[in-house]
Formats: sequence, structure tokens, C-alpha cells
Amino acid sequence: MDRGAALVEAVASRGGPRLPAVEWHESIGSTSDRLKHLARAGAPAWTAVLAESQTGGRGREGRAWHSPPGGLYLSVLLRPRTEPVSLIPLAAGVALVEAVQGFGVACELKWPNDVLASGRKLAGILSEASSGGAGVEWVVLGLGLNLALEAASLPAELRDGVTSLRAEAARDVEPAAVAAALLAQLGVWYDALREAPSRVVAAWRERAIPWWGTLVDVRSGKAVLRARLVAVDDDGALVIELEGGERRRLVSGEVSRVRQAAAS
Ligand code: BTN
Repeated sequence: MDRGAALVEAVASRGGPRLPAVEWHESIGSTSDRLKHLARAGAPAWTAVLAESQTGGRGREGRAWHSPPGGLYLSVLLRPRTEPVSLIPLAAGVALVEAVQGFGVACELKWPNDVLASGRKLAGILSEASSGGAGVEWVVLGLGLNLALEAASLPAELRDGVTSLRAEAARDVEPAAVAAALLAQLGVWYDALREAPSRVVAAWRERAIPWWGTLVDVRSGKAVLRARLVAVDDDGALVIELEGGERRRLVSGEVSRVRQAAAS
């Protein structure tokens, strides 16, 4: 049985969604770009594309996602009907945390959807939607998880901020086992989005780094805002409070904590 067929079976055996088609590439430009191509050609929901490495991996905010061998690079196609699209990345974050915890590694979520273990980035999520006359037609959800990457294979500026599943679990983990756990949990939380979206937001909040009330810098586009973190609202947006008390609601951005010494 090839790897794709084995993954279909492994996900089904965990009670997860039926994957109609799986491509598993040794190397590809970007699994999400490939899946967008398939989506435009009419591929059904839950079609998945995986790769052992990417040459043009993309991250949030237009950044590159360094993708040498040793990572899990997975994109899955969703065709939401009643599921709230703005909450899909949160559902994916919860699914990722639960899948990783199944391998004995505790982790937390940092808004919008970074997965951190021991305070370092373990995984990231890129959710890209395409709309037509009838609303959102499809969402390509791209998940990048560091399984066994050595820091040395990453650019110097990223090395201190990342960790791997191997380092956290102190053992090697099979990419196929992680992919199966991830897709099965994604099925659980995608169903929850349809049935009770507030459960997804509550689950996300429970797994978030407890930075509420602390001072952060939020990079949003070119601007950097210094503010207190208030909450993640019911639509998945970040609510911050600027000096002077003005509250803002952000749908994208990058949060970093302000060191106490600077936070007078
Ligand atoms: C982030 O910036 O934190 C999100 C990174 C998402 C990377 C994944 S890897 C699989 C998929 N293909 C891509 O090109 N990007 C996403």
C-alpha cells in the first residue's frame, strides 16, 4: 500500500474524515499551492497534499516557511457550508495541540495560531480562502509542523525560537502517525464548528498562552501597536487595549510579549 492509501486508512481507523485523495510528495514547491490548483479543478473536500520538503513553502503575513526535510508539510482542502470560516484556523490550532499532546508533548496556542512548546514555535497554520458569488468556495488549510528539524538547518535568526517534536518528546515520531492524528482531530473540531462554534472558541481559549492583561507588541501590517491583551472574541479576532483605553479588534497580526523591564 502506498503512503497516501495508508494515511487514508489510518485516519479512518481513528474515526476521522474520509480522505478522497491524498498526494504525498518527496519534494514540492508548496503543498498549499498544489492544493489550490486541485481545488480550482474541483477536488472534493478533505483532499490532502503532503510533502517531505518544500522549496517554496509559504507562511503567514507573506513570509517564507523554511521547509527542509524533517518537517511535516500538510495541506487539506475544506469546502465550508455552514462552518464559520474565520474560526477554521482556531479549530486547526486546537486540533494540532491535541494531536501533538497525543505524542506526550504539552503545547500552547499563541494568537492567531502558532503552536508553541517550551515557549518555542513547533507548528504554524496558514488558512487561505477563495470566494465566489455564493461566498467562500474553498479553504486551503496549510499546516507546518517541525518533527525533527535541526536548528542548524534553519536561518540563524530563527534558530532560538523553534523547537521540534523530536526534541520535546525525546524520541522520533513517524510523520504518517502525526499526520493521521492531526487529520482525525481536525475532523473532530471541524464538525464542532458546524454544530457549536462557541465550543471551538472555548477550546482555543483553554489552550492559549495566558498572556491576558499583559503588555504586548502587535505587529499588524507595517504598524506595531503596544497594547494590553484583552481577549479573543467569539469570531476569533484579537481584542487589545491601547494606552488611553481605546479598544481595537484585529483579525491578523503577530503578537510578542513586552519584557517586564520595558513595561513600566
Ligand atoms: C506560519 O507562518 O506560521 C504558517 C506556516 C504554514 C506552513 C505550511 S507548510 C504546509 C503548507 N504549505 C505552505 O506553503 N505553507 C503551509
